[in-house]
Amino acid sequence: MANPLWRKKSISDLMQSSNEHGKGLKRTLTSTNLIALGIGAIIGAGLFVRTAAAAAQNAGPSVTLGFIVAAIGCALAGLCYAELSSSIPIAGSAYTYSYATMGEFIAWIIGWDLVLEYAVGAATVGIAWSEYLNNLLVNVLHWKAIPYEWCHSPFEISTAGVHGMVNLPAFAIVAILSLLLIRGTQESAFVNGIIVVAKVAIVIMIIILGWGFINPTNHTPYIPVATTYVDSQNISHNFGGFWGIIGAAGVVFFAFIGFDAVSTAAQEAKNPGKDMPIGILGSLVICTVLYILFAHVLTGLGTVEDFRTTGKEASVSFVIQKYMGYTWLANLVTIAILAGFSSVILVMLLGQSRVFYSMSLDGLLPKVFGDVHPKFKTPYKANLIILLIVGAFAAFIPGDIVGDMTSIGTLFAFMLVCAGVIILRKTNPDLPRKFKTPWVPFVPLLGIAVCFLMILGLGWTNWLRLGAWLVIGLVIYFAYSKGNSKLNN
Ligand code: ALA
Repeated sequence: MANPLWRKKSISDLMQSSNEHGKGLKRTLTSTNLIALGIGAIIGAGLFVRTAAAAAQNAGPSVTLGFIVAAIGCALAGLCYAELSSSIPIAGSAYTYSYATMGEFIAWIIGWDLVLEYAVGAATVGIAWSEYLNNLLVNVLHWKAIPYEWCHSPFEISTAGVHGMVNLPAFAIVAILSLLLIRGTQESAFVNGIIVVAKVAIVIMIIILGWGFINPTNHTPYIPVATTYVDSQNISHNFGGFWGIIGAAGVVFFAFIGFDAVSTAAQEAKNPGKDMPIGILGSLVICTVLYILFAHVLTGLGTVEDFRTTGKEASVSFVIQKYMGYTWLANLVTIAILAGFSSVILVMLLGQSRVFYSMSLDGLLPKVFGDVHPKFKTPYKANLIILLIVGAFAAFIPGDIVGDMTSIGTLFAFMLVCAGVIILRKTNPDLPRKFKTPWVPFVPLLGIAVCFLMILGLGWTNWLRLGAWLVIGLVIYFAYSKGNSKLNN
């Protein structure tokens, strides 16, 4: 190929090297296992923290409609993920798929962009974990709260005027889980199963018990009149109306991130052609229904003002305590959430190390990211570097900012995945596809459009952040990766 930017990895090479790598992997996962894996990776800070943020900043009760828009975008992208993961069934991610379909340059952009999804996403959940840790200390254990300055970023300031300095608990949880990963302590299916059941049970309990406490005044009007809301960091958001809903969709899109993690298990699925789409779409459908009902109850219990002020942090426990008076439920929620968030962080850190590892094997990142620990057989140096990157985001950047950066980065990656399906149909029409995305190119094009709409809804501060991130990525690509790519030889 004349221009190295568009050089591609051949699919047969990919499959061959994956067969060598994947020899030890057994095909044992059924569609039920995959759905459990998906839900384990999906339900987390998006639901338990970002829902209240989206209600406060963007949409009030109509955050439920935001969930529907986000779910539609995910379902369309999910159908595209399912085709790629069933036709290139190797352990990997959007990065690997795009290297084979759209060439090295786009693959680099996606890989770099996935850092936003996995690393910055892990930081977001770490920060949410820190909020609920404080809630555990104060409300469950009746100890003292961690002083504000030690559990908030320097960009935050409390209602009492205290400035944050560093979010130590968020850093700590990221560090502990990164070290666990280095030891190769992957969650066993059993522990994951328990956490999935606990998370789903808590969500269902809140829906059922909370329904009777919904205050209809909080739901009127369901779609607030369009205005602008300026938050405590002086960032303005579209509140209410159509753009409020779209903005909320971009924010709560975070709650769906992780369903694509199912696609990385393609090599271990018993019958990838049938089980992968069921796993991906099944976990999406279950989560969507739960999310809409949950958001309806949450915004019926608490007011928008609550979510902007005293109930801004650990909002779910806050409204349960304040409006339902069920201390036991608020406590149970806090404990389940701390465990549930840990499993999400672990999956994201693992995803990030896999992506860096693959990029390093391809020569796009330095070799150190691919070094495997002699005893634990994990990419431990990559894990340590990721610990520092994710830890720095968790310690020094506010949760709202990293949360929206994660959403926008992932939305961008999803758009490229949708485009990948259209391109692969043209370039490799005869590749066996165990699952085919229906109505190509209509479904991928609609997926691109819905994801783009959510990007628009996230507002110009987030576009700038995404732009800056991509520029840094371009500099690294042209300064290092292009010349060191294995495809040079
Ligand atoms: N969807 C995951 C969460 O909400 C990332 O925490």
